[in-house]
Amino acid sequence: MNEFREALDATISHLESLKLAGVTHVPVRRETLEALSRPVAAPQAAAAPADMFAERIHTAGSTKAGQMASLRAQGLACVKCKHLAASRTQVVFGVGNPDAELMFVGEAPGADEDARGEPFVGRAGQLLTKIIETMGFKRSDVYIGNVLKCRPNMPEGESGNRQPADPEMQTCLPWLHAQIDIIQPKAIVALGAVALRGLLPELSGGITKLRGRWLLYRNIPMMPTYHPAFVLRQYTMQNRRLIWEDMLAVLERLGRPITPKMQNYFKSE
Ligand code: URA
Repeated sequence: MNEFREALDATISHLESLKLAGVTHVPVRRETLEALSRPVAAPQAAAAPADMFAERIHTAGSTKAGQMASLRAQGLACVKCKHLAASRTQVVFGVGNPDAELMFVGEAPGADEDARGEPFVGRAGQLLTKIIETMGFKRSDVYIGNVLKCRPNMPEGESGNRQPADPEMQTCLPWLHAQIDIIQPKAIVALGAVALRGLLPELSGGITKLRGRWLLYRNIPMMPTYHPAFVLRQYTMQNRRLIWEDMLAVLERLGRPITPKMQNYFKSE
């Protein structure tokens, strides 16, 4: 995608997010209005893509499952980040239903995911699974993916996890964009700041400010919320209630049933 298209998409996405948030007018300077009223030359057809990676992601298959299988086969063979390809046990591509109406996007695999080859199977994953099931879905009903498909490597002798670096995110994000293009979910949940920044890099404001507010990713409603690992680290009633309120908003948007028990989940504690 060329820069013109990216800038246009980012602008449209930003304006639609504002609209969803209830903003009806935006101030525009006179010079901007004059510039907008002048015809623009159509952008030049892109020459050979600067990044040959863009050329390689094309998927075969007439069904979403077929397209995802084709994409996955390419993803599993990716060695673009040499250091991650060398340190990983396996690529953690994504799991779930390619026809899902709801998709969850996390940050990157941790040690448990790297060992199992599946996103969100460690402690944070158990909390996410509980949330998904409390929403009335099975884990296999939704699709779960990450910004990074490989576990961020740790310095020799150090355990734990580290956040993805920007170049790693830029290299890996085309896989996530391609996954979303195939699934075309009715809603996306961005789990935490990295997922939010990966999908909408043009937004300013952190997860604490933006969680609970509908945004748009390429015309798909997106709900940013806290990452389950954050909620586990700061396991307060307030944080658990906020993430659950965000999920209730998602259910409402999808037109899914919300039982009184769901509605009162935290009130009954
Ligand atoms: N955290 C993430 O963001 N993704 C995983 O898959 C696991 C933990």
